[in-house]
Amino acid sequence: MNTQDSIYKTDALIAENIEEYLEAHQHKTMLRFITCGSVDDGKSTLIGRLLYDSKMIFEDQLATLEADSKRSGTQGEEIDFALLVDGLAAEREQGITIDVAYRFFTTEKRKFIVADTPGHEQYTRNMVTGASTADLAVILIDARKGILTQTRRHSYLVKLLGIRHVVLAVNKMDLVEYSQEVFDKIVADYTAFAAEIGIETFTPIPISGFKGDNITGPSENTPWYDGASLLPHLEAVEVEDSREQAGPFRMQVQWVNRPNLDFRGFAGLIASGQIRPGDEVRVLPSGKTSSVARIVALDGDRDMAVAGESITLTLADEIDCSRGQVIVASQSPLEVADQFESTIVWMDEHDLVPGRAYWLKIGTQTVSATVQEPKYEVNVNTQDHLASKTLDLNAIGVANITLDREIPFAPYDESRDLGGFILIDKISNQTIAAGMINFSLRRAQNIHWQATDIGREHHASMKHQTPSVLWLTGLSGSGKSTIANIIEKKLARMNRHTFLLDGDNVRHGLNKDLGFTEADRIENIRRVGEVARLMTDAGLIVITAFISPFRSERDMVRSMMQPGEFIEVFVDTPLEVAEGRDVKGLYAKARAGQLKNFTGIDSPYEHPEAPELRIDTTEMTPEEAADLIIARLIP
Ligand code: ADX
Repeated sequence: MNTQDSIYKTDALIAENIEEYLEAHQHKTMLRFITCGSVDDGKSTLIGRLLYDSKMIFEDQLATLEADSKRSGTQGEEIDFALLVDGLAAEREQGITIDVAYRFFTTEKRKFIVADTPGHEQYTRNMVTGASTADLAVILIDARKGILTQTRRHSYLVKLLGIRHVVLAVNKMDLVEYSQEVFDKIVADYTAFAAEIGIETFTPIPISGFKGDNITGPSENTPWYDGASLLPHLEAVEVEDSREQAGPFRMQVQWVNRPNLDFRGFAGLIASGQIRPGDEVRVLPSGKTSSVARIVALDGDRDMAVAGESITLTLADEIDCSRGQVIVASQSPLEVADQFESTIVWMDEHDLVPGRAYWLKIGTQTVSATVQEPKYEVNVNTQDHLASKTLDLNAIGVANITLDREIPFAPYDESRDLGGFILIDKISNQTIAAGMINFSLRRAQNIHWQATDIGREHHASMKHQTPSVLWLTGLSGSGKSTIANIIEKKLARMNRHTFLLDGDNVRHGLNKDLGFTEADRIENIRRVGEVARLMTDAGLIVITAFISPFRSERDMVRSMMQPGEFIEVFVDTPLEVAEGRDVKGLYAKARAGQLKNFTGIDSPYEHPEAPELRIDTTEMTPEEAADLIIARLIP
C-alpha cells in the first residue's frame, strides 16, 4: 500500500471510528525535520506538497481553500494545491519577524513537525534555529543549478549541529526532463562534498515538489530510480533519540519545584544515561553529593527514568541546587570550566566584537561571556581556514570563549544539551550567534586563584576607608579630567587614599598599543577596569576619566566590582558645548576629516541609562560638580 492509499484509509477510519483513530494517532512516533534550500529552489512548494498530500492541513486552512476555490468556481487538485502554497507564502511574509514557522502534519504512520523558515533565506539564523531540534534535514537542490554555496553552507551547519539524517532532495526534476544523468551528476558532486565535511550517509531522491513526483510513491517519470519516495522515507527513517541512554547520567536543572516544605524536587530533561532511586549523584559546579530519593514523572513515581524524559528528582539530603546546575552520576562527573574553544555561527548584522561581554545561554543557565578574536573562519565551499579578526553575518568560525564563572559542560559532539549555546547581545537582547563547545582550555584548569593572607579588607582597614570606583564617563572635552582632578585634591585634603586613572595618561603607557576602533576602545576599558579592580583590592578610592562610550563595557566594569562599589558619573555636556570649547583642537580636526572615529562625530557615544549621578556641566562649575560627587561618595 503506498502512502496515498494509506491516507485515504486514514480518512475512512476518522469517519468510522474516531476513538480508534485517536488511539492509533497517539502512539505514532514523531519526526522533526527541517528543509534547507536557497531562494527559489522550491521549498514552499515542497512543504505545501507534503501538507497537501498528507491531507492533514489545518482546518482553517482547508476552510479558506474551499471558500477560495468556490469563489473562483474551480475545483480540482491543481488549483487547491497552488492556493495552499500561496497561502503558506503569504502567511510567512506576514510573520516576517519570526525566525521559523513550525508546521505540523501527520500520516497514518507518523507525526511530523517541519521547520519552515520565512523570507530572508540568505540568513543562517532561521536555519540554525530550526535545525537545533531537528532529527533530519531535507537539503533541497534545484536540479537545474546543482550544488550551490548555500547548499554547502547548510550542509556544513547540518553536520555541525549534529543532525544525523540527511535527505538530498533533487527538486524540479520535471524541468530537466527527469534526466538520470543530471541526477547522478548532482549525487556524485554531493557525495564528494559530504565526505569532506564528514556527512557519512545521505539519501538522494529525485523529486518534483510541483508535479508531485516521488513524493508519496514511485513516479512513472523516473523509471530509472528504484529508491524510496520522500514521504515513505520520512515515515520509515529510524531516528533514535540522540540522547544516549547508555552514557553516564546527566540532567540540567530547569527549575526547583517546592510546592511545600516537605517536597523539594529538581525538574529537568535527562540529557544522557538513566537514573534509579538510591543512585549516588553529584551537583555541579558545587560538587556536593547525595542520593536520589524519588523520581517523579507526570504519571507518578518511577523506578527508573532514561535520557530524553522530563522528570523531577528529590534527593536524600538537603543540598544546594538551583536552576542551571547539573545533576550527574557521582562516579562520572562532568568537566567544569570557564574557558573553551568553540565553533561559532554568527547570525547578526553587527559583526562579532572580540572582547565585548555577551550573554551566553547554555541549557537553562545564562552567564556572561567574551569571545576572543577568531582563530580562523571556515570557507564553507572549500573547508579552508581563513584568517579573520571578526565574524560577520553567516560566518562560521572557531574562537576561544571566556566565561565569568565556571560551568559544567560536555563537548557538543557528546551532548547537544550540555555543549550547545547561543550568544545574546546584552543591550538589544537579540540572539546573535549559535555555538558549540569543542573542548575546554587547559590553561583554565591549570591557573588557580592564589589565596593571599593580607586580603582586600585588611588593605582597606589600614587606610580607614571603603574602596570605591568613581567612574566618570562623557564626551571628549566634557570636563571629566578637570572634575576628576578637583575630586582627587579634595579627597587628599580629607586624608583619603586615592588614585586617578585618566584616559590621555593611561594611553601613554599601559594602553599605548591601543587606538580608537571599537575593539581597541573595548580593550582600553577592559584593562582600565582590571586595574581599577586591583586598586580597590589595595583599598584605594579610584577615580577614572575615560570617554568609555559603550554601555556594554561600562556594565562589564560594574560587574567586576563589589556591589555598590562602582559609582557611574555621567558628565553630561552636549556635543555643541564640548565642540565649542575644543580645548585640544580635536573636534576641528575630526570635522575636517583629519581624525577618524572621533566620539560624537563619526563614532557613537551611548549615554548611561541609569547612572548613579548625572552632572550637567552647563549648570554648574567643575568645583560644584566635584562637591556633588564627593557628597555621593561620602554621605
Ligand atoms: S575611550 O573611548 O577609549 O574611553 P579615552 O578616554 O581612553 O577614550 O581617550 C579619549 C581621549 O583621547 C580624548 O580625550 C582625546 O583627547 C583623545 N582622542 C584621540 N583620538 C580620539 C578619537 N578618535 N576619539 C575620541 N578621543 C580621541
